[in-house]
Amino acid sequence: MTQLPIIIDTDPGIDDAVALLMALTSPEFDVIGLSVVAGNVSFEHTLANTLKVRELTGRPDVPIYPGCDRPLLREPVYGLFSGAGGLGKAALPEPTLSAETEHAVDFLVRVLGEAAAGHRPKPTLCPIGPLTNIALAIAHSPEVVAGIDRIVLMGGAFADLGNRSIAAEFNILVDPHAAQIVMACGAPIVMLPLDLTHKAIATFERIDAIRALNNPVASVVADLLTFWDRRDVDRFQTRGGPLHDPTVFSYLLNPEWFSGREGFVAVEVASELSMGHTVVDWWGQTDQPPNALVLTDIDADAFFDDLCRRLARYVKSAP
Ligand code: BDR
Ligand code: CA
Repeated sequence: MTQLPIIIDTDPGIDDAVALLMALTSPEFDVIGLSVVAGNVSFEHTLANTLKVRELTGRPDVPIYPGCDRPLLREPVYGLFSGAGGLGKAALPEPTLSAETEHAVDFLVRVLGEAAAGHRPKPTLCPIGPLTNIALAIAHSPEVVAGIDRIVLMGGAFADLGNRSIAAEFNILVDPHAAQIVMACGAPIVMLPLDLTHKAIATFERIDAIRALNNPVASVVADLLTFWDRRDVDRFQTRGGPLHDPTVFSYLLNPEWFSGREGFVAVEVASELSMGHTVVDWWGQTDQPPNALVLTDIDADAFFDDLCRRLARYVKSAP
């Protein structure tokens, strides 16, 4: 099997943890590394949580690179739904291995630089947190953009607006300046915004199906997703929480379950009221060519069935 080389930039975070557990048991991916950023919780916690998740997967071969502990320009904003430590009340193993000493931005510059020079295949970047690490790598060494195959990111909100402010999606709100650098970088971009991820709700029935897999990883995922319940039936028409970040990996594995449209996307960085809002030009008002494929629909049943099948691969504590 030809594996897709990917780099995951992450801020665990409950849905990040589920995404990592999904990606690390998928042989279709060659996970070159996990770069960590502050987001759902402070950096100390996102790094510790990434180490715990790797421990749970039994994948010591996947290196973890510590990245930025705050946004480029703005004060940190943290999430509201992952609990104080970032993994709800789920019990994950204490890590036996450490993170790498190389900084995530140096890691990105190194690997993408090698790819740009033709010394390795170009990785797909999978950012599922604020875009601080990716933006810094691009700002530091713009030539690395030539080493990116494409960027497939969870972020943005177009018609289905904010989840941490009235106008913005969390990952973009936390570091809108970083998001603007990434959107303007010139690499092919696929966005999975709230418009899509709010159609992928971890309902009680779906959590029950995961728990019924009856392996240690599936039990942790069921505990994580039980904590993730938004209790917002008005907004989601059901109990449960949106499973944002794993949709990125589902798209890479099964793009036929997704649909959307290309447009020119820019990020609001001036107005405090709508800071981080992602604005899309569908109709050529700006004369700018499209810079992103914006996905807005998902076959949620297929996505959850496949997530179950992948989590079923975990037996005892290793995939
Ligand atoms: C995004 O923000 C975080 O809460 C989640 O991990 C996801 O990446 C959704 O807005
Ligand atoms: Ca995230």
